[in-house]
Amino acid sequence: MSVSVLSVIRPLGGVPGILQVASVLGLVLLLLKTAQLYLHRQWLLRAVQEFPSPPSHWLFGHRHELQKEEQLKLLLKWVEKFPCACPRWLWGTEMEVVIYDPDYMKLILTRSDPKSDGSYRFLAPWLGYGLLLLNGQTWFQHRRMLTPAFHYDILKPYVGLMADSVQVMLNKWEELLSQNSSLEIFGHISLMTLDTLMKCAFSDQANHQTERNSQSYLQAVWDLNNLVFSRMMNVFYWKDIIYRLTPEGRWNHQACQLAHQHTDRMIKLRKAQLQEEGNLEKVRSKRHLDFLDILLFAQVSNRSSLSDKDLRAEVDTFMFEGHDTTASSISWILYALATHPEHQQKCREEIQNLLRGGVFITWDHLDQMPYTTMCIKEALRLYPPVPSVGRELSKPITFPDGRSLPKGFLVMLSFYALHHNPKVWPNPEVFDPSRFAPGSSRHSHAFLPFSGGSRNCIGKQFAMNEMKVAVALTLLRFELAPDPFRVPVPTPRIVLMSKNGIHLHLKKLL
Ligand code: HEM
Repeated sequence: MSVSVLSVIRPLGGVPGILQVASVLGLVLLLLKTAQLYLHRQWLLRAVQEFPSPPSHWLFGHRHELQKEEQLKLLLKWVEKFPCACPRWLWGTEMEVVIYDPDYMKLILTRSDPKSDGSYRFLAPWLGYGLLLLNGQTWFQHRRMLTPAFHYDILKPYVGLMADSVQVMLNKWEELLSQNSSLEIFGHISLMTLDTLMKCAFSDQANHQTERNSQSYLQAVWDLNNLVFSRMMNVFYWKDIIYRLTPEGRWNHQACQLAHQHTDRMIKLRKAQLQEEGNLEKVRSKRHLDFLDILLFAQVSNRSSLSDKDLRAEVDTFMFEGHDTTASSISWILYALATHPEHQQKCREEIQNLLRGGVFITWDHLDQMPYTTMCIKEALRLYPPVPSVGRELSKPITFPDGRSLPKGFLVMLSFYALHHNPKVWPNPEVFDPSRFAPGSSRHSHAFLPFSGGSRNCIGKQFAMNEMKVAVALTLLRFELAPDPFRVPVPTPRIVLMSKNGIHLHLKKLL
């Protein structure tokens, strides 16, 4: 071997021998890598030959199309053209199959495929391995441990806390009102949902809607939403070692630090409070345990092996999932009602009758607002706050139409595309709350704002309550109208955002 290598490199003359060997080795490695990528691409192409897709570049995949047009608009064009599912190439050797058919969704969500490492791992530096990112047995143990935090005995008193936070936001809106200019609501609603979450899940009673710490946390979350999504879409940023050296990578690191400061401060405060209150058992007998209590109790009990790192990951996960998703949903619901004044008025009348002219809302009212609930669901259909989730197939799958995908494939379950699929929802772009009228029927997996199966949203009931309280109290105080000059542009991030904010005109009701 050494003889043949030397004979090949001898003509390079003056270059030191070690460099020559390194160049030849480098060349061999490059050839091997190219061959490996080529074979991987061939495998992908063979696996999706039954799934037609729009033409893509052999190296850049669908990047050009994805950059040229609004992503969600492009996706809806694909939905019209390619039934059930369609491959999306991010790069010549990186692709995922986008799914938007209810039967396909059902099949995948009833299996136990793990979250796809490709995209979720980019959330890990920020959220850590909490409930959202965990898989397998550890996920199961954490889910079982945290489920009691969402029992309805715990959720009941939260309604009053939610109403208080909403009123603080509405008072602020009243002060900001001016005749002509519209108000960007997403930022205000994020502060309100963060405030609510801090009060409910973390028993922190400070007013977070005016605090500077909360605002810098929200700025970090906003940045991370954009940064993580941009990383998912750009294969050059996938390798940690390279990403860390880029300006975006450094920004991501700083934003994570800011977000962690917020959660660390809160954990420290609560640990100190618990020490003051004395024995943890005494605390347990005094009040219902909130989300953070459950974690702290689990840490001290002998039965659990919850480390400080695990605890922080759960707090980071819930802090984010518990406020950003509801901020997105409430903002889009108010926008949908603003653009449909007839439905807005019907909801308002329902709530006025229910609360008998007052504004005091309780747990018992929440299941007595059927029309408002129908409008909320219809807005969740049109604007699903979590536009998609990902899975990596742990075994081969065959769909009901006979097409199949092999083990190891990445699938993206696009709730946005499912909810806008004309084969599932006739006239999908029309806001029609009667789709959710009592007695109306639909496929069990046609409407999935909270996903489905065992990995559905643990905070679903909390979120529904918060949406009802926020919508009811806002409609009692204001008449909402859209700003025709600033029509929001839905944009997929980790949650559904608007590229240019959500601007509404508000008119105070007497
Ligand atoms: C309108 C509001 C909300 C929507 C639309 C929503 C939607 C979702 C969806 C689609 C998933 C599945 C994610 C995946 O498979 O990767 C999920 C999971 C999750 N959600 Fe929500 N969510 C909302 C509110 C909340 C709230 C208020 C909390 C907490 C207080 C929460 C906590 C979580 C957690 C921890 C998970 C991971 C669950 C697991 O994998 O076991 N969510 N949510």
